[in-house]
Amino acid sequence: MHIRPETSADIDAIHSLTEAAFGQPEEARLIDMLRADGDAAISLIAEDKDQIIGHVLFSPMAAPVRTLGLGPLSVSPDHQKQGIGAALVRHGLAQAQREGWQASFVLGNPAYYSRFGYSVDLAKDFTNQFAGPYFMALELAAGALKTPFAVSYAPAFAKL
Ligand SMILES: CC(C)(COP(=O)(O)OP(=O)(O)OC[C@H]1O[C@@H](n2cnc3c(N)ncnc32)[C@H](O)[C@@H]1OP(=O)(O)O)[C@@H](O)C(=O)NCCC(=O)NCCS
Repeated sequence: MHIRPETSADIDAIHSLTEAAFGQPEEARLIDMLRADGDAAISLIAEDKDQIIGHVLFSPMAAPVRTLGLGPLSVSPDHQKQGIGAALVRHGLAQAQREGWQASFVLGNPAYYSRFGYSVDLAKDFTNQFAGPYFMALELAAGALKTPFAVSYAPAFAKL
């Protein structure tokens, strides 16, 4: 298995993989809309023997510091629980940090995303359309989330 940035040749496979992972079409459509809007800031695929088995996307969020929203994240149903999702998230976060992004938020299961350092507690004073018990925050630059602010997902999320 290796991880690399998506290319235009991967678009259909990412769509199919995401639909299969979520068991519904909404997240796959969201990825296509984000890409069309120029909001696929980091889009990585996990590939095994020329087959795409995982994908992660990070999109820019409207915020006073350079912030990325993580998601959707998908691993094909027959390759789950082998560390592929975690490898994709870690690669994406490392790239984000190299590129100077200062913070990241995710909407997801705290039992999963806390292993990467995302925290519900850290996110709780930030205003967001999806704020609640699944909204989590991570600093990529020390102190970036010291003062709470309003943060919004890319416009495509509103069309979900
Ligand atoms: C969630 C998902 C991306 C995880 O990828 P993965 O490669 O299977 O996960 P990893 O191998 O990195 O990690 C496995 C661990 O995650 C846990 N896990 C997997 N899916 C989880 C979920 N939805 N909620 C909580 N924990 C989950 C497993 O129980 C396992 O826990 P352990 O390490 O304590 O044993 C994958 O299961 C998937 O595509 N699911 C369907 C789509 C989805 O729900 N995406 C995330 C939306 S925010």
